[in-house]
This record gives sequence, C-alpha cells and structure tokens, in this order.
Amino acid sequence: MDSLLNLQALPPTIGAPAVAIGGITLFFIREYVKDQLKKSSSFPPPPEVPGLPIVGNLLQLKEKKPHKTFTKWSQKYGPIYSIRAGSNTMVVLNSNDVAKEAMVTKYSSISTRKLSNALKILTSDKSIVAMSDYNEFYKAAKRHLLTSTLGPNAQKRHRVHRDVMINNICDQFHAHAKLYPSEAVDFRRIFQSELFRLSMKQAIGEDVESIYVEELGTTLARQEMFKILVVDPMEGAIDVDWRDFFPYLKWIPNQHFEYKIQQMHFRREALMKALIQQQKKRIASGKEINCYLDHLLSEAADTLSEQQILMLLWEAIIEASDTVLVTSEWAMYELSKDANRQNYLLSEIQNACGFDQLSEEELCKLPYLAAVFHETLRKHSPVPVVPLRYVHEETQLGGYNIPEGSEIAINIYGCNMDQNVWDSPEEWRPERFVSGKDDTTELHKTMAFGGGKRVCAGALQAMTISCIAIGRLVQEFEWRLREGEEANVDTLGLTTHKLHPLQTIVKPRLRDRVSIS
Ligand code: HEM
Repeated sequence: MDSLLNLQALPPTIGAPAVAIGGITLFFIREYVKDQLKKSSSFPPPPEVPGLPIVGNLLQLKEKKPHKTFTKWSQKYGPIYSIRAGSNTMVVLNSNDVAKEAMVTKYSSISTRKLSNALKILTSDKSIVAMSDYNEFYKAAKRHLLTSTLGPNAQKRHRVHRDVMINNICDQFHAHAKLYPSEAVDFRRIFQSELFRLSMKQAIGEDVESIYVEELGTTLARQEMFKILVVDPMEGAIDVDWRDFFPYLKWIPNQHFEYKIQQMHFRREALMKALIQQQKKRIASGKEINCYLDHLLSEAADTLSEQQILMLLWEAIIEASDTVLVTSEWAMYELSKDANRQNYLLSEIQNACGFDQLSEEELCKLPYLAAVFHETLRKHSPVPVVPLRYVHEETQLGGYNIPEGSEIAINIYGCNMDQNVWDSPEEWRPERFVSGKDDTTELHKTMAFGGGKRVCAGALQAMTISCIAIGRLVQEFEWRLREGEEANVDTLGLTTHKLHPLQTIVKPRLRDRVSIS
C-alpha cells in the first residue's frame, strides 16, 4: 500500500517508465511462478503406507511407539513416505538428507505448526518459543531466552547454579553409599529434583521450597510444584483427543478430555502467577537477581503481555527439567552395564585432571566423554520425533511433491537407526564418534537437537550439564547395575523416558589410578 502511494506521488516522467518496468517485471514474475508450479506438480507424491478407509493408519500406530513404527515402515517404503492419521496427511522423514532438506532448505514453506487440541491449551495458543510459528513474537522471545538464559554468555553467568547442582547430586550419592552400601539407588529421584531446582533458579531467580497459591487455596511443596509445572503438562501434551484426527467432527464434545487439560492449565497458571507475584515483591524490595524473570520484566514488559511472560517462564522450567534427565539417565545405564567403557572414561578423566575434581574447564579435553553423550543421544534421543511442522505452501522434499496442508514428522530416531549411515546402529558404541580424528560434524550427525533456524536453544546447557554430571559421577563412583536391571529398557508411552527409573549400586572410588590395556 505504501509503495502504491509513493508511485502516485512520483512526477509523471519518472512514474511512467517505472510503471512500465514494474509491469514487465510483474509479467516475468507471474510467468516464472506459473512455470515453477507446473514443475512442482510434475514431482510425484511420496509413497503411501496403505491404511484403512476413514481412520487411515491410526490403528497401526496404536502400540504408542510411533518412532519405532515409522522406522519399521521406512525399511519397506523408503526414507520418505506419507501416512494418514484420520483425515490428516502426514509425511514422515527418516533419513538425514531429507530431514536436513526440511529443516534448512525448505524451512520457509514448513515454518508453522498445527497444534493438537491439548497443545493449543497447554501452550496458550503458541505462546512459547518451541511451539510458535516463525513470526515477530518468536524472534523476540527467542532473543530474550538466549540473552538471559541459554546463550553462551548467559550460561557463563549461570555457572554457579550448575556447580551447586552437581555438588548436591554427588553429595546425595555419597550419603546413600555410606548409609546403604549394598542397596541400589534411584538415580532419577536425585537427579530430577536437582535439575528442577536449577531450572527454577535460572527462570525465576529462586529455588522455592514451598508456596501458598491463593487460587488453589493451598500451600504447595516443591515436589507438588514439579508435578504441576512439569509432569502433568508433559502427560497432557501427548494425550490424544480423537477429534485432532477428524477435524470435521470437532463439534462433538469430548468433555472428559477437555476438563482434564483445562484443569492442568488452570493449576499451572495459578502456580506460575503466585511464583511471579512473589518474585515481583522481591524486585520491589530492591533485590535483583540474574534470571529470566528479571530480564523479561525489565526488557520486555512493554512488548509482551503478562500471559506471554508467564508462558515463557514456564517454558524455561519445563524444557530444562526433562530432556537432560533422559540423556543422563540412559548414559549412566549404559556405563553401569559396561565396566570396560566406564574405566576407559575414568582414565580419560584422570589423565586430564589428575585427582582434582573435574570441572567444566576440562570438558574440552575429554573427547570420549563427549562421545558418550552423543552416542547416548543417538541411541536414546530424548526427542525421537521433532514436534510436527505444518506445510503452509506446497513444496518438494526428497524429489517428491508435498502438498500444502500436510504435516511433517521428522523421525530423528529413524535417522539414527539408519544402517546406511550407522554401523550396527542398535549397539551403544561411543567409539564411533572418536575414530581417530576430531570430527565435529560426526557429533552433529545425530540431529538430536534438530537443525536450521529452529535448532534447540538449550543445546549448550544440555551438553554442559549432562557431560559434567556423567564425568563427575564416574570420577567419584564405581557404577554397577542392580541385578535384573539390564533388561529394564522399556520406555514410557510416546517418549524415550526409561519406564523404570534406573537402579544402580554406587561405590565411592578409592583414589587409585585405573590402567587401561
Ligand atoms: C538433551 C537435551 C535436549 C534435546 C535432545 C533437545 C532437542 C530439541 C529438539 C529436537 C528441538 C526441536 C527443533 C525443531 O523444532 O526443529 C528442540 C527445540 C528447543 N529446545 Fe531443546 N533439547 C534439549 C534440551 C533443551 C534444554 C535444556 C532447553 C532449555 C532449557 C531446551 C530448549 C529448547 C527450545 C526453547 C527449543 C525451541 C527452539 C526454536 O524453536 O527455535 N532444550 N530441542
């Protein structure tokens, strides 16, 4: 509109040639677009996995491990194929090449999301970075998150919280080993609660022990806060409302489902409001803390609504509290099972820092520790399928035409089980990442953090916390699985969470050097 007005205001001598040039340019653009459309429609559609009328492939996905079913189908239908979830078409990507094409080259056509009914409520309609479309809100919110919390400089400022966390974790394992030397310890109970405390400090500035929530009429202890802010919404996010698959039936009520999700939302919002209110009082009393809340209130209160700020703070808490636990728990499972690799890692740590306590400064000298982390992400990726992307304009992927309105599922688990890329992918073998050369591209081959513009904002934090935790725990203890624990490899629902929390026997190490043959 502005440019039309400008053109009208131009003197006729300049305006006429400009209009002529504009007209010719428009003509060529129109012809080019037509040509491209013709070309695009000449690409074939991806192969289809046969399903049933109306329900499509839904019944074949009922075992609730979609990443595994997708991977099985890729052996028959290839790295890219389409399925039908009720009336929705979903294109599933199972190889690195085609996944990268979607995340990087074709991002502009696949940068939005169509959320399930549960996610619409739980994300307050896309009011968090990870679920928003690529728009001005997204850009501003991501900038705030990186500047205050997750970017490299912010992570340096939050170092003290990580040091406290790792020391607390080690102290608790020592206390257990002293009191019950031959009894297994529940790794998750200790790790999860310390991770939650760290996430609260980074997000709101304080590890709140308990709080009175007026709207709920009760005082909540930390464990109850964890349930309301992390456990319940995660369960809700993967809860299935059958109307998601049949949008034309959305007029039929599903009251039980709606009530459950609305209750989760209400409780989470009430608690977040109370936590924010408490911190506002702190700020009013003149005490500022380096945290996301103080940053948002001072830098974004004019541009973001109170609801958006509440949701962004909640996002920082839930995202910090889960994925790192999944990775660290599986890494300790694999190391507890494998005394040789555990000793190899210990000798690397001892060579790097002698008998001094391992600290973050030494992480760059420990390639085997990094390999343990990346191999764990490969085999047990905490996000096995990237949150679905929506194709808002027709595009092509892997030589196939992808129509507007499809959804894209990037099956990271499938990419990491691809036998064309990984030798014996079922085996947990960190050595594959340290094959003599320092090949950092190998490290990112797992795509566990996604890629392109939407690459995980918390990758640095995840890697630092997980590596320092695995390193310190191996430096200070000898790890062994409890009898019968090796077979406990089931995962929970749609996730890669270990179904049964890891049970290990920990024995504090004597200050002996290990020798590796
Ligand atoms: C091992 C741990 C982690 C893994 C494997 C992981 C993986 C991922 C993946 C696959 C995505 C989606 C990318 C996409 O949509 O294309 C993502 C996005 C994101 N993650 Fe992580 N994540 C981890 C830890 C964290 C942590 C600790 C935080 C924050 C405290 C975090 C914050 C985010 C955010 C904010 C996004 C959205 C980025 C965007 O849309 O621009 N993640 N992560």
